Amino acid sequence: MTTITLVRGDITRQQVDAVVNAANSSLLGGGGVDGAIHRAGGPEILAECRALRASHWGKGLPTGQAVATTAGRMPARWVIHTVGPVWSATEDRSGLLASCHRESLRVADELGARTVAFPAISTGVYRWPLDDAARIAMEAVRTTDTAVTEVRFVLFGEDAYTAFAAQQR
Ligand code: APR
Repeated sequence: MTTITLVRGDITRQQVDAVVNAANSSLLGGGGVDGAIHRAGGPEILAECRALRASHWGKGLPTGQAVATTAGRMPARWVIHTVGPVWSATEDRSGLLASCHRESLRVADELGARTVAFPAISTGVYRWPLDDAARIAMEAVRTTDTAVTEVRFVLFGEDAYTAFAAQQR
């Protein structure tokens, strides 16, 4: 049974087993939550991301997929990096956004992580409308069979929190 919780705050501070990062395919960092996670976790995260690029993910991590690294100095043990789709008005990429959540939970199961914090993936730089992203994210988590006992959506702003709260049953 997976409990979904919503909190307002900074995902880098969460006392959970794994923190999900809204990365880009390079895995080499960026702004937004990606920048916050690398800043808070420190250089070990980037070192492991570079190793992933040098080994299995030479061409970068495809959209909708997920890989894990250490969380470095953060309270969490792991970071699960996933690449969200950029919002498109003409192409329906919702399957890719759902996949980010499903694949992150699959990786969490592989790690044995039981509590996982998600940001509102794709709703910043990638411009996905919050209400739609919240609907897709919550539906994906609700319909994924996983050993994760708590999925915690960590919302950075009031509008994001409101959008996710509207999806709670
Ligand atoms: N904790 C929780 N949520 C945060 C934090 C934080 N410290 N910082 C930002 N956010 C929120 C944003 O407010 C937004 O709601 O994370 C959500 C995702 O926004 P972005 O971080 O911009 O991610 P995304 O829209 O998926 O774009 C990914 O941005 O930072 C780059 O390298 C990243 O190229 C990639 C792109």
